[in-house]
Amino acid sequence: MVDTRRYAGPRDLRAMQELTSRIWSPESRWHVGDLAWGRFQHVGREAEWPTMLWDAGGRTLAWGWIELPGHLELAVDPGRPELADEVLGWFEETVRDTDRSVVVSSAETHLVEALERRGYLRADGGPFFVHLSRDLQALPEIRLPAGYVARAVGDEDVPGRVLAHRAAFHPSRVSVESYSAVRDAWPYRQDLDRCVVAPDGSVAAYCLLWLDEAAGAARIEPVGTVPEHRGRGLAGAACSAGLRAARAAGAALAVVAPRGDDAYPVPARLYRGLGFQDRARSLHFHAHAASDAQS
Ligand SMILES: CC(C)(COP(=O)(O)OP(=O)(O)OC[C@H]1O[C@@H](n2cnc3c(N)ncnc32)[C@H](O)[C@@H]1OP(=O)(O)O)[C@@H](O)C(=O)NCCC(=O)NCCS
Repeated sequence: MVDTRRYAGPRDLRAMQELTSRIWSPESRWHVGDLAWGRFQHVGREAEWPTMLWDAGGRTLAWGWIELPGHLELAVDPGRPELADEVLGWFEETVRDTDRSVVVSSAETHLVEALERRGYLRADGGPFFVHLSRDLQALPEIRLPAGYVARAVGDEDVPGRVLAHRAAFHPSRVSVESYSAVRDAWPYRQDLDRCVVAPDGSVAAYCLLWLDEAAGAARIEPVGTVPEHRGRGLAGAACSAGLRAARAAGAALAVVAPRGDDAYPVPARLYRGLGFQDRARSLHFHAHAASDAQS
């Protein structure tokens, strides 16, 4: 007997993370850290995010997270592939008159099959993400230009860390309030939140990692360098420091998922330069409101 329930707060995020960790592989679209970052990096967006969980036997077997008006993210236990149809059915009911999009990893074949079964079409040629990984042996040295210092983000660094993020990802809705919520979220760890401080004391670059202890895998999300400090190796240094910290915390592997298309090549170049290798890519499916396959 499978029960469905609407997302009702951080306790349900933990249930979603528990499933995400249980079925995780280096090729997965979702890691426990993505869920924490994705759910807390902005405040005030819950009304735009209808989210549903499918549970049985005290465990979550599937979840769906809609970003209105018509986008779906999901995870489904591959041992219960029929639940992918349940999630997609709920999505189609919820955004009935809207064009729909869904993103999965190329390795999540049970999700790809469900999407194809329901008439979703693959959108090729646009932006996509590459899933990269590397083991944490023989990590690159932390190389910094004179005057720059790499360290963990302390409480006193939070306003500067937020300014750096807002500059790197301009325009950005990340704020001191939302970043504080990120720091309160499981499994955030201060030792895996690394920044590079410029000679003038401002945060010039940063790299946040999230450790899934059960999987022994750390996810990099996000990385940024303030525009006027770019091209000096600071993102590489922040990531190298973060990867070392992740190894010290018990991770054996790290993953990251930058854009893979030629329109936005720098982040993938950064990570491949740090020894990350390609594992999978995102697949982007869509369905027009009128086509309503199988409904
Ligand atoms: C991606 C980003 C973090 C890189 O920061 P950075 O401090 O300039 O990066 P580094 O100086 O460490 O350079 C890393 C690699 O990218 C290359 N690179 C950096 N800027 C580049 C540019 N404008 N064009 C081409 N290559 C560039 C460097 O040559 C280096 O490659 P190499 O190792 O082969 O020499 C920065 O551009 C940024 O904040 N972008 C916006 C946020 C973002 O997209 N973050 C990544 C999300 S996954």
